[in-house]
Amino acid sequence: MLISSENFEKDLQRLRATALEALAKIADLRILEQWRADYLGRGDGQLTQILRSISGIPNSERPRAGGLANELKLLLEKSYSDQHEFLKRQEANNPTKRVELDVTLPGRPLVLGGFHPTTKVLREICDAFTPMGFQIAEGPEVEWDTFNFELLNIPTDHPARDMFNTFWVDGKQGDGWDGMLLRTHTSPMQARVMRDTSPPIRVLVPGRCFRYESTDATHEWHFFQVEGLAVDEGITFANLKGTLYEFARRMFGAERKIRFRCDYFPFVEPGVDVSIDCFNCSGGGCRICKDTGWIEIMGAGMVHPKVLEMANYDPVRYTGFAFGMGIERIAMLKYGIEDVRLFYGNDFRFLRQF
Ligand code: DAH
Repeated sequence: MLISSENFEKDLQRLRATALEALAKIADLRILEQWRADYLGRGDGQLTQILRSISGIPNSERPRAGGLANELKLLLEKSYSDQHEFLKRQEANNPTKRVELDVTLPGRPLVLGGFHPTTKVLREICDAFTPMGFQIAEGPEVEWDTFNFELLNIPTDHPARDMFNTFWVDGKQGDGWDGMLLRTHTSPMQARVMRDTSPPIRVLVPGRCFRYESTDATHEWHFFQVEGLAVDEGITFANLKGTLYEFARRMFGAERKIRFRCDYFPFVEPGVDVSIDCFNCSGGGCRICKDTGWIEIMGAGMVHPKVLEMANYDPVRYTGFAFGMGIERIAMLKYGIEDVRLFYGNDFRFLRQF
């Protein structure tokens, strides 16, 4: 259909007027998008429709008409983006528009974290001993050979070193050389506490230990221990028995029995391993106690006179007892955990249970 360029121009002017007037009233981004579709939409936007009619204009007048139409297109596009930016900024400054906020909704519950089973059991162990007069002390995780071995009556080349698979770190102390290692047990704190304080001593030492170990269900290359040490005049094996009996009852139930058997640790004499009667089968025999009726829970003994001597204590005047236990082992017994590797695998399905 032929149309005159005059009519075409009039259409453009009319469109320009209505589009700009409509745009000026828009205060909402969603309505602005509708405006864009109405006027600039590719399929049936009003401008597009007018542009289609350009083919009806005589050839000679078409370039001018096309130019005008293009001008209007640019104008409308520019007006659109100016308005878009303006409304966006306005919305960002208006808190009720920024998020669709329903202040009447109930709050989301906070997810509370829990204690790691090692921490839980460690605290329980501390709570069992502190009322008996034990103070908590902590020591370095990287230790000198002197404290980890020598002062505990485990000299270099002594076969007792084979009990400990060790991560060595080079080190130098003072003028001479001293090996440095990730401590293999918490016992070095016995020597440190005795060096730094004088009797009476009643101290409990929780902490991380390390062994050069391939891991399996009962071995980890790092784990926690709690060490105990009591030194004073007149301490006897009876004090050791009474203290550990009380601990077993507090930790595993008031009806627990306790058993001491001879064992060897270089820093105690006599040395013992300490067991409780199985809390699961009460001694009848089951999977937890491996059908023996007894469960080993720690090593202990009377502080070796040589250890006292090396700490500059007179072993005739002073005696003491010491004990050491693995915290994960106690936790495994308490909660029926079958694989020590679960403790540090960071699996929430495991950790959430405590
Ligand atoms: N330190 C020993 C270990 O890691 C455990 C131990 C045994 C500590 C007897 C003691 C003790 O204090 O008296 O195997």
